[in-house]
Amino acid sequence: MAEVGVLRGKLSDYLLRRAPGLHLTMVDNWLTTDQQPEAYRATRDDHALHTDAARVERHKRDARAVADRYRGQAEIVEGWSAKVAARFPDRHFDAVFLDADHSEAGVRADITAWLPKVKMGGWIGGHDIDNEDPRFDFSGVRRAVDAHFSAVDLGDNFTWFARVE
Ligand SMILES: C[S@@+](CC[C@H](N)C(=O)[O-])C[C@H]1O[C@@H](n2cnc3c(N)ncnc32)[C@H](O)[C@@H]1O
Repeated sequence: MAEVGVLRGKLSDYLLRRAPGLHLTMVDNWLTTDQQPEAYRATRDDHALHTDAARVERHKRDARAVADRYRGQAEIVEGWSAKVAARFPDRHFDAVFLDADHSEAGVRADITAWLPKVKMGGWIGGHDIDNEDPRFDFSGVRRAVDAHFSAVDLGDNFTWFARVE
């Protein structure tokens, strides 16, 4: 499985702990806000607005500690989501979870890049669909998902999933 957007590795840790046979590819670029696209910053997502490089480094270090704890089961690939996706052969993953740039352009780009990397019968999904928390603007997640899929399953905590067929 690939998790795109790992921050400190909290979800990664949860997944690795709960699924002992899982192999997890953890993808993140760990950048400060000045290096993030305008559309991502416009979502007001905290993670697009980090100004403190030391804090971002700490997030990366925490994620590395998770990967180290699950050596052989977890690997970190640092870089821009779509560029990282291109390094993998098509139909490589059983599942991909998108939790990175929550702008419409970002989610569209991530679905375009990662969907071909999922095996037939596998799953692609992501976070923050229909999350109407007024502090953020995550409305683009729904628009991007609807542009790619006629229907998706909705899970807890604003997650969405689509079977790849
Ligand atoms: C919401 S956080 C991830 C949270 C994590 N999935 C969890 O639940 O613990 C979003 C992360 O996506 C990363 N990110 C945003 N846009 C990205 C991109 N285009 N490529 C790679 N990483 C990106 C950010 O650096 C940030 O760490």
